[in-house]
Order: sequence, then C-alpha cells, then structure tokens
Amino acid sequence: DNNVTISKGLEGIYIANTTLCQIDGAHGKLWYRGYPIETLADKSNYEEVAYLLLYGNLPKKKDLETFRKKLISEREVPESIADIIRTFTGRMHPNDVLRTCVSALPAFDVDMNDKSVEANLERAIKLTAKLPTIVAMIGRYKRGKPFLAPSSTLSHAANFLYMLNGVEPDSESAKLMDLMFMLHAEHGSNASTFSTLVTGSTLADVYASVVAGISTLRGPLHGGADEAALNMMRAIGNPENTETYIEDALAGKQRIMGFGHRVYKAYDPRAKIVYNYLKTFMTKTTDPTIERLLEIALRSEKLMEEKLSKTKGIWPNIDFFSGPLYTAVNIPSDLFTPVFAAARVVGWTAHLFEYWQNNRLFRPLDNYTGKLDIEYVPIDKR
Ligand code: CMC
Repeated sequence: DNNVTISKGLEGIYIANTTLCQIDGAHGKLWYRGYPIETLADKSNYEEVAYLLLYGNLPKKKDLETFRKKLISEREVPESIADIIRTFTGRMHPNDVLRTCVSALPAFDVDMNDKSVEANLERAIKLTAKLPTIVAMIGRYKRGKPFLAPSSTLSHAANFLYMLNGVEPDSESAKLMDLMFMLHAEHGSNASTFSTLVTGSTLADVYASVVAGISTLRGPLHGGADEAALNMMRAIGNPENTETYIEDALAGKQRIMGFGHRVYKAYDPRAKIVYNYLKTFMTKTTDPTIERLLEIALRSEKLMEEKLSKTKGIWPNIDFFSGPLYTAVNIPSDLFTPVFAAARVVGWTAHLFEYWQNNRLFRPLDNYTGKLDIEYVPIDKR
C-alpha cells in the first residue's frame, strides 16, 4: 500500500496518557509528576523520588521512613542469584548478567498468580531494592572481591557504592550517586520503558516486563551510550587530542555517543545538571585521571556546541558527562548501563502500573512490500 505513512522509530506517536513525566524537548525541560527535575535534584533524594513515581505524590515523613525501611529490608538477594553472578560474570556483559538474574527472580516470588495491585507494587519495590545489590555484586565478582552484605543503615545510593567498593562512601560521593540515581529514575516513553509496556500489555508479569526493559537499555543508542562516551574519552586520552579526534569522527560520519536525542532539541536538562556538577567537581578533584577525563568532556562539549548543537540541535544528553563522574566514584564503565537499569526500574514499573489501569495490547502494523501468490516450487526444482 503506497498510501501508508510509516512513522520510523514511532517518532511523534503518542501511546498513552500519563501523569508520570513531562518532557518539553524544545526548551529542554523535564518534570517528574509535575516537579521540575532541577528542584528534585537540588532538594530531594532517590528514595523520595522513587516513592513519588510509584505512589504519585511526595511522601509524608512517616511514609518515607516506612518506604526506606522496606527498601533496606529487601536489599539482600537469594544465594542462587549469587550463583548466577558467579557463573556468568566474566562470560558476558554485566547488563546481560543483571537481566539473567532478574529472569530468575520469579522463582522467589511468594505467589506469581497474585496479580493484585498490591502484589505488583511489592514486586516493584523488591526490584528497586535488589537491582543495585545485584549490580554491585557483579562489580565485586569482576574485581575478584568477596560479596558484601548490604548495609541496614546507609541510603540507597550510599549502600550501592559501599557494596561495590567495600568502603562507606564520603558524603560527596554518596550525594553524587544519589543525584545520578534520581536523574535516571524516569524519562517518559523512551525505548526501554516502551518495551516494558509492550511486554506488559500482553499481561505478562512484572519481572518479564522489566527483563524486556533491561534488554532494551543495553544498546549504545540508549542506555549503553555513557559507556560508549567514556570509551571515546579514554580513546582521546590526552585533552590536547580532543578537537582532532572529534573532528575526524564527525568527518567519518561517526556518531558521538552522549549527544543527540529524539525528543530534546535543546540541552537535556539532566545533562545540564550533571555538567554543572562536573564543573564544580573539577575544581576539587586531585586525581589526574579524573582531571583529564573531565577536561576532555568539557572540551568535547565546547567543540560539539560549535559543530552540531547550534546548527543541528544535537546537544549533550545525560549520558555524555556521566562517565567521568562515575569513574570518580570508582564505578567501572561496564557497570554504567546496569546502574542505569537499577535507577530506571522505578520508572519502568510505575509506567507499567499506570498502563495496566487502562491496558490494551500493543499491536501496530507493518506495510507489506513483497509479492503475493508466488508459485511454490518443490525443493529439488529450485
Ligand atoms: N553524533 C553525530 N550525529 C548525530 C548524533 C550524534 N550523537 N545524533 C544524531 N546525529 C545526526 C544523525 O547522523 C542524523 O544526521 P543526518 O540527518 O545528516 O543523517 C540526524 O542527526 C538525525 O539522527 P537520527 O538518528 O534520525 O535521530 P534520532 O531521533 O533517532 O536520534 C539518538 C536519537 C539518541 C538515537 C541519536 O541522537 C544518537 O544516536 N545519539 C548517540 C547515542 C546516545 O547518546 N544515546 C543516548 C540518548 S539519551 C539517554 C538514553 O536514552 O539512554
């Protein structure tokens, strides 16, 4: 049919109403449940943002305390999850190990037949609590270090760094991690949230839907971009090489990972928050490796602004500046995508529950362009 309009990559297609997140791509603005991201980044914390996204409103003190305690009580993972980590880490990417662990979690669900709102919310909270543990364990195992039991006092972000690095983080590192978790918690109908919804729309369970989200996050066009961006900064190596490297890459029609966005045609507000953080951080750090990475990041941003941002609307997205900062808190680059997943699980599940309130199976169309009624030729005559 020649009259069909194909929306490549579903650009411009609305799939549902939502009260979770609003993105103003033209002006580079973002709200979680109506709260500007800048306000949340400045005043809130990951636990509160997770509550806001899952329950729809900011918690009262007592509710937040209960929610925090619940998350803390769910941090541990069953021994067989540790076995999966031991078996597969080293053989595949940490994001694939995380996905495999989440695939196994239904085995520990009290009653998979219970599809009540309460049971599903319970699953979302458990996943939110356990994903950072699993990611930290994968990181420990890769470094040949023994697993650590989760802390029963540290915040969500601080506990993650503690379980990964084996030392309680200083307040600056904990604050940075908390900020990164907050900024990655939710982002509308992005690819991984959409695939979570596609899977959920068949009335598959929460775990299956989250596994779809984790899988979709993996690629460099989505959650894998920060790892790819850091790899580029490492390849640049010396800040003096930044401009030549990027100009050559652009001349060779390569994409600069961490730049561009389907919805933002202005500076991604999350990237701006991270950029400001990075500039202050730069004045404080004394680690030469981090200093170099930060300088490369800043020089790249400046050059890209001249080359692509102002002319083509290709601005930095959140993934560009994350790498140097994650490196500063000792997170290896192959954990970036699973860390993103651990933060985003709240957004995925919150969208899923919202969608299930008014569920309809996703079933788009594709336009057939082949021939019809072709004669079947027996195999020995082809
Ligand atoms: N570097 C160089 N050129 C780019 C880039 C980039 N990062 N991004 C887009 N372009 C160019 C692209 O080559 C194309 O040019 P032309 O029209 O001359 O062929 C034009 O911009 C439009 O590209 P598109 O792929 O059709 O645009 P899209 O709406 O599908 O892009 C994107 C969205 C995120 C896939 C793309 O910008 C990209 O590949 N960026 C790099 C990967 C990245 O940073 N992803 C993270 C996104 S934000 C966080 C997250 O979701 O995980």
